[in-house]
Amino acid sequence: MTNSILVTGGAGYIGSHTVVQLLEQDHHVTILDNFSNSSPQVLERIQRITGKQVALIKADIRDRESVRDAFKSRQFDAVIHFAGLKAVGEGEAFPLKYYDNNVTGSQVLLEEMLQAGVNRIVFSSSATVYGAPGQTQYHENLELAPINVYGRTKRIVEDMLRDTNKAQPQLRIALLRYFNPVGAHPSGLIGEDPNGIPNNLMPFIAQVAVGKREKLSIFGNDYPTPDGTGMRDFIHVQDLASGHLAALNYLAENDSPLIVNLGTGRPYSVLEMVNAFGKACGKDISYQFSPRRAGDLAEYYADPALATSLLGWTAKHGIEEMCMDTWRWQSDNPDGY
Ligand code: NAD
Ligand code: UD1
Repeated sequence: MTNSILVTGGAGYIGSHTVVQLLEQDHHVTILDNFSNSSPQVLERIQRITGKQVALIKADIRDRESVRDAFKSRQFDAVIHFAGLKAVGEGEAFPLKYYDNNVTGSQVLLEEMLQAGVNRIVFSSSATVYGAPGQTQYHENLELAPINVYGRTKRIVEDMLRDTNKAQPQLRIALLRYFNPVGAHPSGLIGEDPNGIPNNLMPFIAQVAVGKREKLSIFGNDYPTPDGTGMRDFIHVQDLASGHLAALNYLAENDSPLIVNLGTGRPYSVLEMVNAFGKACGKDISYQFSPRRAGDLAEYYADPALATSLLGWTAKHGIEEMCMDTWRWQSDNPDGY
């Protein structure tokens, strides 16, 4: 069935890949984005991939009038809410900027969607909400104890949605806890385009491969892992995107809250990623070992069983595709959009 979906932050990395899949499933999509961390170029790329038009509302989710107008512009069936800030270090330095964008922004959005009679929301949460639980495989029923500002903003929005769902059960909620998204659309037309020096591993490796950075610093080689480097549950952005479509289908049929991890359940080490990327791009990735990065854990990965049982969803793309698709995007667009 064709639905009309409002996608906040739809011009961003995960949002743009999800929008492509929504259009491919014949949904009508409106992106609401302030372009604080994305480019309007994305719209043209999405249209090239899908041959379909996307409606755009350039607005900030904290701007109540604009959000209200957005909900007046069309009767939406659901909202997918990606808009937010996500840099852990920046959150520590500017906590109020993070509480304002992520928490206040989500509250304005939620109030206005309910006011407009829109009762389904899929929210971008993060494995960061678990904090440092003292075990490596994360199940959804672990206590939430985030250890940074960014993670706390995500937990607060989760709480806001759960509490509102209890008081107003017509609101159906899906909280999707992403592990480490990597990869790009196989066309090479859309991908991750970080501003400045990348904080995250995959975009850094990709910029070394394309000659924009000299070498990767591997933060720590003395972790209690097989090769001493950190291990993460990297998940292809295409799998993450399909998880959102599965969540929308779930909300169409169920009124109980959906709270699931989206990961592969299979961690890879930093060195394994470096070597896999080297194979994908056909050249060695220069690296040096550096001290551990503050706040990093040795290893964590998803227990994805709940998402599989509730949604029939599993991650399908392996490490080779994660690297090949990132490399295609990076080499075709060395300076991003
Ligand atoms: P992104 O920065 O590429 O996309 C976010 C989009 O939201 C951008 O287009 C940005 O311009 C927009 N935006 C930000 N603040 C806004 C505001 N106040 N009003 C309107 N638009 C705004 O990030 P992403 O990697 O695509 O992440 C999407 C969501 O998933 C975020 O909420 C992020 O916290 C969450 N998440 C990301 C990761 C990750 O590693 N990428 C992991 C877990 C969770
Ligand atoms: C980070 C965030 C997390 C967020 C996730 C995805 C922290 C503490 N956590 O997770 O909240 O959800 O990004 O956006 O920042 N590494 C290097 N060299 C680099 C970069 C990374 O060795 O230049 C290593 C890290 O030490 C880690 C692994 O690569 O072991 C993955 O790092 P990264 O991609 O930054 O993701 P996380 O730290 O897992």
